[in-house]
Amino acid sequence: MKKISMLKCINCGREHEEEEVKYVCNSCGGNLEVIYDYNLIKKRFNHDELKENRFYDIWRYSDLLPIEDLKDIPPLKIGYTPLYKNKKLADELDISELYIKDDTRNPSASFKDRASAVIVKRVVETLDEDKRIIATASTGNAASSLACISASVGVKNIIFVPETAPLPKITQLLVFGATVIMVKGTYDDAFDLCVKACEHFRWYNRNTGYNPYTREGKKTAAFEICEQLEWEVPDKVFVPVGDGNIISGIWKGFLEFKKIGFIDKLPKLVAVQAENSNAVYKAFQEKLNNIEPVSGETVCDSISVKIPRDGLGALISLRESEGFAVNVSDKEVISAMKEFASNTGIFAEPSAAAAYAGLKKAISEKKVDKGDSVLILITGSGLKDIETAKKSVPKAYKIQPEMKELEKIMVSINKQG
Ligand SMILES: Cc1ncc(COP(=O)(O)O)c(C=O)c1O
Ligand SMILES: [Zn+2]
Repeated sequence: MKKISMLKCINCGREHEEEEVKYVCNSCGGNLEVIYDYNLIKKRFNHDELKENRFYDIWRYSDLLPIEDLKDIPPLKIGYTPLYKNKKLADELDISELYIKDDTRNPSASFKDRASAVIVKRVVETLDEDKRIIATASTGNAASSLACISASVGVKNIIFVPETAPLPKITQLLVFGATVIMVKGTYDDAFDLCVKACEHFRWYNRNTGYNPYTREGKKTAAFEICEQLEWEVPDKVFVPVGDGNIISGIWKGFLEFKKIGFIDKLPKLVAVQAENSNAVYKAFQEKLNNIEPVSGETVCDSISVKIPRDGLGALISLRESEGFAVNVSDKEVISAMKEFASNTGIFAEPSAAAAYAGLKKAISEKKVDKGDSVLILITGSGLKDIETAKKSVPKAYKIQPEMKELEKIMVSINKQG
């Protein structure tokens, strides 16, 4: 029996057979959602089975993933990232509980590995070896994750990134062996070029939002949160939002676990956007479905997006979960990077530190209650953009290798208290 029952358009509602469509809705071009036969899944997937499963990665949820089997899965450890409880910050912020889901710990050091792994596995499963070329446009992380996971199974990639993408991310791509096309333009320009190029060269397109299966990988983080919190969910989950595909994936994950009876309650989702890259925030505030383009300019390169490619999905997640959206400034993000890292031992890239900055903002706007348990999703490593991190910290001391010089510095440090 087939576990996927259809691909449903989130815009017009049209239902498609899986074989009938490749990426977007045949009627309106809207994004598609993978709908499973949940009754069938309920029969073969349960808590006890999970408890006994000693493979701690995204594939433990394969019953709810768009893959046939576990043959030839990428060999890297993807997902089941740590979930920490941080009492010190919770006390300082005056909230009941603070949880941190540390997705910097994936193989390419970002959350995006979850989605790329599902895409790569599907390509290996469904395409002949000579046709296995996956292309994507990316602000950086989707690409580096795709290149990383493709390298582990010998699949080729063509990557389109804006020329402004941080050097560590570009370098990741190159060492993993991807062909990198730096586009003199924005992420949005790279996205459109990638769609055209895939049609022309018949490459498989992993573009975020456009490819319905990226969300399927992303939802595994919600599954893990439920399992790691022993089938409870936090009151609020803060997610950094660019295209809106992580947040819509996370929401799908919680909904699916509720549908099959694994959890009873759903969390409220909070979208955190950068001030000039806040198309979802604006549409949510104004109760619109039409998402107007914004400039997208922000120090948070991973969430720098003019037109969110899963913006409607993000809005639906916020509305259905009765959550909300917040804006953060670049200044707030830069100071959050240092504050978060020095309190947790987790080095978050700007877009990930934005989740923490967003929590602080929401508290200041009285949108979080004292009794709330909150989870923030840390989606990418700070080592991917040290130029921005450098702006958040003082300079190191530089001395001759002599005790006298060191003593002088220690005196001045002690004076500063
Ligand atoms: C580190 C990081 N955080 C957040 C996001 C936002 O995800 P989405 O574009 O699906 O909203 C991205 C996307 O590239 C990312 O790389
Ligand atoms: Zn449609």
